[in-house]
Amino acid sequence: MDIIVKTGALANFDCEILIVGHFEDNQMPEGAAHLIDEKCNGLISELIEQRDFEGKLYSSSVVYTRGLLRGRRIIIAGLGKKKEFNLEKLRGVFSKACQKIRDLNITRLAASLDFGKSEFSIRETAQAAVEGAMLGLYQFTPYKTLENDKKGEISEFTIVEDRPSLLEDVKNGAKTAEIISRAVYCARDLVSTPPNDMTPTILAGRAGDVAKEGNLKFEALDETVMKKLGMNALLGVARGSAEEARLIVLEYNGGKKDDKPVVLVGKGITFDSGGISIKPSEKMDEMKSDMSGGAAVVGTIKAAAELKIPLNVVGIIPATENLPGGRAYKPGDILKSMSGITIEIKNTDAEGRLILADALTFAGRYKPAAIIDLATLTGACVVALGDYITGMLGTDSNLKEEIRSASDATGETVWELPLWHEYDDLIKSDVADIQNTGGRAGGTITAALLLKRFTGDYPWVHLDIAGPALLSKDKPYIPKGASGVGVRLLVQFLMDRSRAFNANP
Ligand code: BES
Ligand code: MN
Ligand code: ZN
Repeated sequence: MDIIVKTGALANFDCEILIVGHFEDNQMPEGAAHLIDEKCNGLISELIEQRDFEGKLYSSSVVYTRGLLRGRRIIIAGLGKKKEFNLEKLRGVFSKACQKIRDLNITRLAASLDFGKSEFSIRETAQAAVEGAMLGLYQFTPYKTLENDKKGEISEFTIVEDRPSLLEDVKNGAKTAEIISRAVYCARDLVSTPPNDMTPTILAGRAGDVAKEGNLKFEALDETVMKKLGMNALLGVARGSAEEARLIVLEYNGGKKDDKPVVLVGKGITFDSGGISIKPSEKMDEMKSDMSGGAAVVGTIKAAAELKIPLNVVGIIPATENLPGGRAYKPGDILKSMSGITIEIKNTDAEGRLILADALTFAGRYKPAAIIDLATLTGACVVALGDYITGMLGTDSNLKEEIRSASDATGETVWELPLWHEYDDLIKSDVADIQNTGGRAGGTITAALLLKRFTGDYPWVHLDIAGPALLSKDKPYIPKGASGVGVRLLVQFLMDRSRAFNANP
């Protein structure tokens, strides 16, 4: 879909369909809807007066203009109650309107962002509208061969801005949204791809493609190199699989040479069977999404580079399958991690923390300003926070505050759980330094406490995305399936941080 921004009078704009908005509590159309209404002899106000259209959030009505306007149809989109309106709702509104337009088999649409008086800047309004449209229209079709099984595709989305002074801001917002949404697509595609076509080697190849496009430094360490580095926790998990493991490293240097980087670490289990402690077969297919953290890191770095965010950012993705092959690691095994800490295996299904342990130790080599890891780490986090909320645990309150603020701005909800050190006892081992599980109770916390052992003294935040990584139901602008969660959150975090950093370096 091409995103286009044009200036000109709405009434003269030639298009198949034009989106305008209407608030539930308005008696009369406002903004663009008012302008169109006047040109069309009260077409919209009659719809509203007759209560055929009430402006309820995510509802919409299509009307034909029958020559009263250049454009052939109007779709009037409900914005809900004015005092409840925000950018998150706007994303949903544009998603729902665009999905309806797609269902009508229309391929080119135009939209006005003039909804009357607004407390939001036009730049952020444009960004939210384009994000909603693009994210909501996402489909994963490479494996669909039957044509009638696919939905149509919208080829052009044009924002018509009839206030010339706002044009630059609209363009900026739309461009930012386009870059971020393509990065989310990238992450969703990686996660949606079936695990037979998304092995650690293939994931490394895809990250390499992103690096080439963005002129990034890229490396994929193989098992020989990892062995030399002493990454026996990661290699232990990889033993059960015939596929070779990789440690993927992406570097974007948008900051000054000596600026300490932000290091993003993403769990890259391309398939989690549980290993010898095998999972039940029901829904095991969903464990192709166990590399969602890694996918989010790839997407975030892609966007950071395209947005030219003035920061140094490193992405580290430990990638392997977790399978119960003949050489697989077993409960009772003890692995010596790269840091020297020994880990007794109590359950081979608690593999994420093992590969992250070595990746976090490796992250220390970059003397990071901050480390953020993302992982589909624990079922316990889904029990605690449900399918839509990311769990956050970490050591640095400033860093947590930055993430919280990015969460508010993007609608990617995070909620803090306590990193409560009294529970450290639960991961003590009788025979090694620590063990890889702490029992069912407080499972998200004990997993994070294990990670904490490998983060040095660097400011660190862990994001458990086990819930929101893969959705079983549509959300207003996130179709069911791979969500790409984390990309928008981290890009926002990086943008905000670069702004604060450049204001007081
Ligand atoms: N990848 C899973 C966690 C997961 C579960 C992600 C559901 C998404 C949805 C992780 O590797 C795992 O299996 N964790 C175990 C840990 C336990 C053995 C301590 C879990 O949560 O059951
Ligand atoms: Mn597991
Ligand atoms: Zn896992």
